[in-house]
Amino acid sequence: MTEQPKRGLARNTANYGDRDFALYLRRSFAKSMGYSQAMLDRPVVGIVDTGSAYNNCHRTVPELIEAVKRGVLAAGGLPLPFPTISLCEPSLFPTSMHYRNLAALDTEAMLTAQPMDAAVLVGGCDKTVPAQLMAAASADIPAVQLVTGPMLATPFHGERLSACTDCRRYWAQYRAGNVSDERIAEIEGRLATTAGTCGVMGTASTMACIAETLGMVPLGHGSIPAVHADRLRAAEEAGMLAVRLIEAPVRPSEIITEHSVENALRVLLALGGSTNALIHLTAIAGRRDIRIDLDRLNALSDSTPVLVDLKPTGEGYMEDFHSAGGMPALLWELRDLLHLDTIDATGTPLAQRLAEPAFVDRRYIRPRAEPVSPVGGLVALFGSLAPRGAILKRSAATPALFETEARTVVFDGLEDLAARIDDPALDVTASDVLVLKNAGPLTPAGMPEAGYLPIPQKLARAGMKDMVRISDCRMSGTAFGTIVLHVTPEAAAGGPLALIESGDRIRLSVRERRLDLLVADDVLATRRAAWHPPATPKRGWDRLVAEQVLQADEGCDLAVLRAGG
Ligand code: FES
Repeated sequence: MTEQPKRGLARNTANYGDRDFALYLRRSFAKSMGYSQAMLDRPVVGIVDTGSAYNNCHRTVPELIEAVKRGVLAAGGLPLPFPTISLCEPSLFPTSMHYRNLAALDTEAMLTAQPMDAAVLVGGCDKTVPAQLMAAASADIPAVQLVTGPMLATPFHGERLSACTDCRRYWAQYRAGNVSDERIAEIEGRLATTAGTCGVMGTASTMACIAETLGMVPLGHGSIPAVHADRLRAAEEAGMLAVRLIEAPVRPSEIITEHSVENALRVLLALGGSTNALIHLTAIAGRRDIRIDLDRLNALSDSTPVLVDLKPTGEGYMEDFHSAGGMPALLWELRDLLHLDTIDATGTPLAQRLAEPAFVDRRYIRPRAEPVSPVGGLVALFGSLAPRGAILKRSAATPALFETEARTVVFDGLEDLAARIDDPALDVTASDVLVLKNAGPLTPAGMPEAGYLPIPQKLARAGMKDMVRISDCRMSGTAFGTIVLHVTPEAAAGGPLALIESGDRIRLSVRERRLDLLVADDVLATRRAAWHPPATPKRGWDRLVAEQVLQADEGCDLAVLRAGG
């Protein structure tokens, strides 16, 4: 038998010690699915299917996949969808973050093990897109990302509602006693009324914009609403592009570079985007051996204005951002701050993609001369409480709290938080700082989005809207407040956060980028001598995470999955 071309089904044949037989067997089994020889001779586009009855954000995945298949077939390829893990933010215990690396591992393994010449990655909800980009970066096969797109906001009593900034806003009012049981139940059914990802600049939308900036999503496609017909046309185009990538390959390693990662950081800052996106971008970059330095983040933040006026920090929703011009308009506005030599999946340099000014609606995408804020949305803090850094989304915080020295009220973990936060006897005042420890990536909690600690009910009922809250976990990209997150090293890794006790004083200075624990060294030494690391889980994924997961400043990837292992 003659040597088969190493493309399509001839790629990655099973290893029986007889490659011709392996291909013969593969073709005969493929024929049992009714494909003609002509189809089986075509180049193969694998389509990552993350549709799941557990994932509302991926409700449209079946019709998106049909549209991708149409594009692949029209361009001369054979489309082969295959399932991978689907992660829906509110559906997973203890938190979807605990499984992001599992989804990345699953996707990378299937991209490399199965025969395909290119791939279309279909995902949308918060952790899915980062997992797919991490996988593509490691597998390094030509790939296009297709996001499911954001949901539409719902008119409601003279305002609009969408997941999930409005969920948090109304829940806070309910906790404060300002919204009735009946009203909160009615709102529950109006917050997410169409298919798609959360309708604000939360993590999913931020990651879609970052994927677009990196070049893995074609420019203009990231923010198309989930239910718009253009979303299906984008899917068809993704299928066609994947086939073109087979003839003229552009690999993720050529797209995800130091320059494109820095562009993505700029965009994250200009969006006032999700804090989670920083962890995810760090993990994606880590797959290509690119390190994100938090000092560099601060330098970029000081020279990047927030230009996008969307919830959770502003007023608009994702549909407004898209109709205001979306990423083409934002990148045009930022063009002198960007590396224009970066290429996308078509191989086109950013300079060429930004050759013409894009349409822009200034209500949602501001000009540089009139920014929402003259400096970027995120800032990294360092100090004795966070030697390797912590993150504050200053665009979502209360400036009056930026320079704070205060007494702490400390919660040992999520159970302690739930047990005591609303206790009328809790010793807490309006000038205190709330601290949550033992909720970082190494803990069984898996670094949940619990950093948005609720305001203690007795303070909320007295009208308190914000206070400084510090933790080693994350917060939802849809949340707001003076929330210091990702304290690194985390408490479970023996970071200084492990030693803090209620009544200790801390000092936060956004101006100086500092977060310090004001406790004498000898006191801390005594506490450290009494500290014990948490027990390691006995088996399974939890055990692997506990042994392998990296800290927030390294993207919380598993050590073995980073470039070079
Ligand atoms: Fe899926 Fe918000 S829950 S994007």
